[in-house]
Amino acid sequence: MLRVGIVGFGFMGRMHYKCWKNQPQAQVVAICDTNPNLVEDTRKAVGNIAGAADAVDFEGLTVYTDYAQMLRKAKLDAVSITLPTHLHVDFATKALKRGIHVLCEKPMSLDVAGCKRMIAAAEKSGKVLQIGHCVRFWPEYAKAKQLIASGQYGKVLATSLRRLSSAPTWSRDGWLNNTGLSGGMILDLHIHDTDFVQYILGTPKAVQSTCAKAPNGAEVHVVTNYFYDDKAIVAEGGWAMMPPFGFEMSFNIMLEKATLIYDCTRTPAFRVCPAEGAVFTPPVEPGDGYSRQTDYFVQSITGRPAESVLTLAESMESVRIVVAEIKSARTGKTVRL
Ligand SMILES: NC(=O)c1ccc[n+]([C@@H]2O[C@H](COP(=O)([O-])OP(=O)(O)OC[C@H]3O[C@@H](n4cnc5c(N)ncnc54)[C@H](O)[C@@H]3O)[C@@H](O)[C@H]2O)c1
Repeated sequence: MLRVGIVGFGFMGRMHYKCWKNQPQAQVVAICDTNPNLVEDTRKAVGNIAGAADAVDFEGLTVYTDYAQMLRKAKLDAVSITLPTHLHVDFATKALKRGIHVLCEKPMSLDVAGCKRMIAAAEKSGKVLQIGHCVRFWPEYAKAKQLIASGQYGKVLATSLRRLSSAPTWSRDGWLNNTGLSGGMILDLHIHDTDFVQYILGTPKAVQSTCAKAPNGAEVHVVTNYFYDDKAIVAEGGWAMMPPFGFEMSFNIMLEKATLIYDCTRTPAFRVCPAEGAVFTPPVEPGDGYSRQTDYFVQSITGRPAESVLTLAESMESVRIVVAEIKSARTGKTVRL
């Protein structure tokens, strides 16, 4: 039985807790958060994805406010790091140094230098470090990747991806709206689609981004062109939707012999339109991206996953591409990679 701790028990900490609760090989034995009203606040619904606020059973686990103390006392095998992004590098390297496996939320770090420090710490410790690029594990996205890789519908000609929500209001002390702490919307939200583009097509030759700003100057909506030799690839993301809109993640993937369509706001959400024959919804794996990434993390600790879905180099590469997108948005220039 893996003894698991979670540090940072806000929106994503609760989501990780829910995933860990469903893992037969693991038990959450410790939670660490600096919030003095943790138990009370945990009862409130937060975040943009349903399921994060499910009941938490504080019996049988120890609550810490000090991370060093949790690492020293809780005898952890693994820790979920679900903290504000500027803390990822420091907290991950501390756990790895103590020989604890780390599942750390995306983005890996605010910059490539931080990613390199994390990778070095993981290599030195020999423990598993995995970054929470949950979209690679999201059943419909994973099926799309599989259909592309199989080659049965030919090459990718074009792709458009979207990830849209209203401005986040849940983050503790508003850290998400502080670009110095979160990297801003492009790094925090849009990286999911950048990472998926990298997953299906590799690193683009260059990126060109345009970004809309809110009246307070915050970058709130980005559109990026990812340049490959023979494809038209675009992703759009933002926090500029009005609150009643809710949340949308979607893609259209145009292959030579089929179109793959997903939109979480529609029913059916997932469709394949082949060149010949009727439209259909392919079967997908059960669960969601969060539960499936936790399964993968456990498999990486206890043995080897059947196939590689995500590497540390790729997690770092997604930060590198997003940093280039931010540079492009701010300079108005195309940025080569
Ligand atoms: N994969 C996804 O879909 C997804 C979705 C949302 C957020 N995230 C990522 O998850 C991470 C956390 O985001 P969130 O939305 O849960 O934020 P949040 O503000 O809801 O939660 C952060 C928690 O960390 C705690 N904290 C802050 N400093 C601490 C410290 N020094 N020690 C212990 N606890 C501390 C806060 O009290 C808070 O409870 C971010 O990196 C974010 O980008 C990922």
